[in-house]
Amino acid sequence: MEKKEQLYEGKAKKVYATENPDYVIVSYKDDATAFNGLKKGTIAGKGVINNKMSNLMMQMLEKKGIPTHFVEQIDDRNTVVKKVQIVPLEVIIRNVAAGSFSKKYGVAEGTLLANPTIEFSYKNDELGDPLINTYHALALKLATKEEIETIEKMAFAVNEAMKEFFKQLGIDLIDFKLEFGRFKGQIVLADEISPDTCRFWEAGTWDTTKHTSLDKDRFRRDLGGVEDAYKEIFRRLTGE
Ligand code: TMP
Repeated sequence: MEKKEQLYEGKAKKVYATENPDYVIVSYKDDATAFNGLKKGTIAGKGVINNKMSNLMMQMLEKKGIPTHFVEQIDDRNTVVKKVQIVPLEVIIRNVAAGSFSKKYGVAEGTLLANPTIEFSYKNDELGDPLINTYHALALKLATKEEIETIEKMAFAVNEAMKEFFKQLGIDLIDFKLEFGRFKGQIVLADEISPDTCRFWEAGTWDTTKHTSLDKDRFRRDLGGVEDAYKEIFRRLTGE
C-alpha cells in the first residue's frame, strides 16, 4: 500500500491517505515533546522502535480479543491502520502512583495502588488536555455512555494483558495512556503503545526509593540515557 496525500501531522507521527478509504498510513517520527509541546527534542531511532513496538503490542492484544486499528506494518517507520475517528479522550490507567497522580494527590511515586485506576483527559491541546469525568464527557458529547463503558472495559483488559506480558520481561507496568477510535460502528484501540505513552520501570524497583525508568520520563525529566532506555525495552521485547 502506498502513501498518498498527508492528512495530518502530530507531535510524534504523520498520517497519510492511501488508495483505500478505510485505511491510512501512520509514519513515526523521532520528534519528542513533553508538557504539551513546551519541551521539544529528538530521540534518535525512536520512530522505528515505537512503530515496531506498538505493532507488536496491538497484535498481542488482538490475540487476547481486543479489537485494534492495526492492519499491517509496511517498514521500519510506516504502518497501515484503520482510518478511525478518534474519540477525543486520553484514557489513563495506573497501577502504581507516579507523575501527575503523585503530584495531585500527594502520594509518593512508587506507591502501589490498592486497585488499578482509570481517568480521562479531554484531548485538546489548546486547553492542555484537562482531566474530566464521564459526566463531563457525556455532557460535551465526546462519546456515548455505551462507548465509555466499552472503553473502560477494554482499557482494564489491556492493563491485565500488558501487566502480565511485561512482567515476563522483567518490567513493571506503572501506568499508560490509551486512545480509542470508532471504525464502522465499533470502538477499537488506536494511536500507539510505546515508551512515549507508558511508564515502564525495571522490575522490583517501584517500591524502592530509586526506580529505573525505561520510558519517556528519561526525556521529560532529563535523566539521560534516553535512547538506551528505548533500545533496552525493544531488546527485551524482540531480542534485537
Ligand atoms: P501523567 O502521570 O503525566 O498523567 O502520565 C500518565 C501516563 O500517561 C504516563 O504513562 C505517560 C502518559 N502520557 C501520555 O502518553 N501523553 C501525555 O500527554 C501525558 C501527559 C501522559
